Amino acid sequence: MRGSVETSLAELAARVRRRAEGHSGRFLLGIAGPPGAGKSTLARGIRDELNLAAGAAIADVAPMDGFHLTNAQLRAAGILDRKGEPETFDAAGYVALLRTLRDTTPGAPVPWPTYDRDIHEPVPGGVVFDHHTIVITEGNYLLLDDPAWAAVRPQLDEAWYLDVPRPIIEQRLLRRHIRGGRTPEAARSKVTHSDLRNAVLVESTRTRADLVLRKAGRGYRID
Ligand SMILES: Nc1ncnc2c1ncn2[C@@H]1O[C@H](COP(=O)(O)OP(=O)(O)O)[C@@H](O)[C@H]1O
Ligand SMILES: [Mg+2]
Repeated sequence: MRGSVETSLAELAARVRRRAEGHSGRFLLGIAGPPGAGKSTLARGIRDELNLAAGAAIADVAPMDGFHLTNAQLRAAGILDRKGEPETFDAAGYVALLRTLRDTTPGAPVPWPTYDRDIHEPVPGGVVFDHHTIVITEGNYLLLDDPAWAAVRPQLDEAWYLDVPRPIIEQRLLRRHIRGGRTPEAARSKVTHSDLRNAVLVESTRTRADLVLRKAGRGYRID
């Protein structure tokens, strides 16, 4: 595509390293994008490149997915069937822990929840930040501009948006739901009635990113 630059994972990681070096305190990179875009995969890839280049664990991933409300909480609120929509996450808790990561001197442990796709529940303290100076936080709703989520963006030193064609998302999410235990019919219904609606919402936040990436060949393209 005209005006776009192809870049490797290593080059993207080097960009993050340069920015982080000129920054005082912990550097927070956010990766937003629709469900199934490949955010978690990209975040892990950048983390691994950073740690490899540094020869030490300087970076780790802080998934927004760790702030999924528990199934018991969703059931009590009568919104279990809407799991994955913005109001099924603890957005305030997410913002508060991003702040804590910023305000805590590296070396002091900060536990961060992850999300387990086998048991479909958040896992408290699934990852623990200590000496890490780079945090890669990733999820659907980082750039949402509504009362619950708008406080996320100011916590990010840089925000990327990972874009992906709709048919690819559909295919990936179908596979993910079937792998997660749904029948093909239930998976199709979840994609149509939930994931794709969330994707449309997330797509409206793309303009709030500093950088828009798309997968291209073995690397990514910066638009
Ligand atoms: N760059 C990529 N190339 C091919 N497949 C990918 C790529 N990134 C992610 N995937 C696949 O797409 C699916 C969704 O990726 P994931 O990182 O979990 O997305 P997200 O975190 O945005 O929901 C996974 O099955 C993953 O293996
Ligand atoms: Mg993910």
